[in-house]
Amino acid sequence: MMLNENFLWGGATAANQIEGGYQEGNKGDCISDHLTGGSLEINRSFTKNIDPKKNYPSHEAVDFYHHYKEDIALFAKMGFKVFRMSIAWSRIYPTGEEAEPNEEGLKFYDNIFDECLKYGIEPLVTLHHFDMPYLLVEKYQGFLNRKVIDLYLKYVTTVFKRYKNKVKYWITFNEINFACIPMGNLEVLGIYHEKTEDYTNPYDDLQMRYQALHHVFLASARAVQIGHSINKNFKIGCMIAHVTLYPYSCHPQDMLLVQNTDHLFNDFCGDVQVKGYYPYYIKDYFKKNGINIIKEKDDDDILQDGCVDFYSFSYYMSNCISCQEGLEKSMGNLLGGVTNPYLKSSEWGWQIDPEGLRYTLNKLYDRYQIPLMIVENGLGAVDEMDEDKKIHDNYRVDYLKKHIIEMKKAVEDGIDLKGYMMWAPIDIISSSTGEMKKRYGLIYIDKDDNGNGDYSRYPKDSFYWYKKVIETNGEIL
Ligand code: BG6
Repeated sequence: MMLNENFLWGGATAANQIEGGYQEGNKGDCISDHLTGGSLEINRSFTKNIDPKKNYPSHEAVDFYHHYKEDIALFAKMGFKVFRMSIAWSRIYPTGEEAEPNEEGLKFYDNIFDECLKYGIEPLVTLHHFDMPYLLVEKYQGFLNRKVIDLYLKYVTTVFKRYKNKVKYWITFNEINFACIPMGNLEVLGIYHEKTEDYTNPYDDLQMRYQALHHVFLASARAVQIGHSINKNFKIGCMIAHVTLYPYSCHPQDMLLVQNTDHLFNDFCGDVQVKGYYPYYIKDYFKKNGINIIKEKDDDDILQDGCVDFYSFSYYMSNCISCQEGLEKSMGNLLGGVTNPYLKSSEWGWQIDPEGLRYTLNKLYDRYQIPLMIVENGLGAVDEMDEDKKIHDNYRVDYLKKHIIEMKKAVEDGIDLKGYMMWAPIDIISSSTGEMKKRYGLIYIDKDDNGNGDYSRYPKDSFYWYKKVIETNGEIL
């Protein structure tokens, strides 16, 4: 099966995991600037003040801020058609509350887009990727306060206008459904409750969390409307962390549990953003949990008028769900589950399931019937560099290859898929653990968790493999 010749092959990143350039170009502090480094064993922590004795990996990240030309040239060498990246809101409005945007920040992204366009690479921009300006957390508890909708829209309008001739594809919020579990309080919603001590296990108030999520839905829907009024050719999408779920057994209760968990984690946000209204099952969940969303009179119309143009998602793994107690637990991107005896896991315990991607693409297209994009898929692994500065990451090639094979089968099944962006073309700071050691890149970056390294870039074996994949439009894998 041949993929469409305009198929968008490329890679995806996020500002807080690649840029560095902390406080350079008048950038303000954002949420991720206050997250310390961690590991699989030690959770990252969130500190209100920057403690000079602690390590905050986003401050340097992989220094894309100063290496973007070199990095984009490498992406071009692989033949990228698209580069997914995010704009750091706090580079444009350092505290979120300034009346005028920060020209240095705007110029930085102008340079990036110009560099991409020079090579015929289409930028795809995430407007919010876990990095709200910090002041908005402190002053308003983020999106819990409706005022932050307006501040987000001020920022979004500024960048839509500025880049209207350079960027066509936009995503309003990264992994918005992270807000459907307690940990999403901070990174998606900007809520850091005074009773919270550990942000990975925060104090969780359902009423607050879902009220703030309602405001995020409104912000997203208004952004879609505003974007279309600035450039009717904009394509603006939602982005969901899709953790594919299987029943552990054929017990009907396992099946019902999967359906319910799917509804609450995987489906809810996409349903609102694609269909423009709250689905029936969430109303029941709200009722049973005493959640009462406070709406203003136009809110339902705003949601209805701000449906997204495409559905994008991250896919790393699948998990099993069971109503039985005592089964072996599996880890996961945001959502854990029960171990699947038929699957192997990555070094960080994420179950590798290429066929689950085909299943997911079919499920999503069946549900939404709008264009889909895979905007994250990849393997975090420890890479070793040999004496010749080569990295033989055949495990990464194997992971990506198997997923692309299943993706092509899904296209053959008849789904409408616009693009595939692997995560991540360059090594980056891991979002969950804050490590460098968990490498995703096709390009190795000389930096480790102890601050060693000179940030030199080295193509891995997977770089040359992916180049061939793109060159042949996915025919040679
Ligand atoms: C997604 C995020 O959750 O998964 C990315 O959108 C993140 O920001 C990616 O990097 C992989 O997760 P991790 O924790 O391995 O970096």
